[in-house]
Amino acid sequence: MKKWVIANLKMNKTNTEICEYALSLKKNLKKCDARIAVCPSFVSISELAKIMKKTKILVGSQNIAANEQGAYTGEVSAKMLKDVGSQLAIIGHSERRRYYGETDEIVNKKILMAQSQDILPVVCLVYDGGDSYQEDLKNQLNNVLQGVDKQKPIVFALEPVWAIGTGKSMANEDIEPAIDITKSYAKHLLGYEPDVLYGGSVNSVSVVPILRMKQCDGFLVGTACKDVLEFTKLCEITANN
Ligand code: PGA
Repeated sequence: MKKWVIANLKMNKTNTEICEYALSLKKNLKKCDARIAVCPSFVSISELAKIMKKTKILVGSQNIAANEQGAYTGEVSAKMLKDVGSQLAIIGHSERRRYYGETDEIVNKKILMAQSQDILPVVCLVYDGGDSYQEDLKNQLNNVLQGVDKQKPIVFALEPVWAIGTGKSMANEDIEPAIDITKSYAKHLLGYEPDVLYGGSVNSVSVVPILRMKQCDGFLVGTACKDVLEFTKLCEITANN
């Protein structure tokens, strides 16, 4: 199965910069055999989708509204995102939880909204590697998967908060059991085994040992996706291992 490499560009790059970045990526990754997705800010999704139209590179958002439409100032709905060509949505990133108070309940609503427009939800789970991590992951899965459509795919991303943007990624022996429990418990709830990604300081060097972990279906990448050459290298290494 091809591995995922999802670029979370966060609040970086203007629309002009995204266009330049996308054209390079499109050229560099023409033959790359990974499942690549790029998630810029909302304002660049439309432009990026046009550039990536006839490529295998997917386009996604970093967030999505929890409500369908109406008086929700500043929000962007699933329907609006679908209309400009968004194919997936990162939901419940730890920065959203920390700075904007997103709870599991909100994450659940956002998954339902994404599914209503056939946008693939890439759901981030909080994982700190503490003693109660199994129970914590199961609780989160119970909460965020309430009432979801089990016929539609959902991808999960495990991101230890201390590894995000710090240059320190988690050791395989610590990630592996968390991926296993996420897969098996999500299977129990959904009826299928979902793809589970790892995120937290993944770059073209740190990815090498993590690639040995067969259960890991790919990566959610922040810092290393900002530079087009580094991101290209990371995608190629992932595809070739
Ligand atoms: P990082 O970010 O690669 O900079 O650690 C990952 C993320 O926030 O998804």
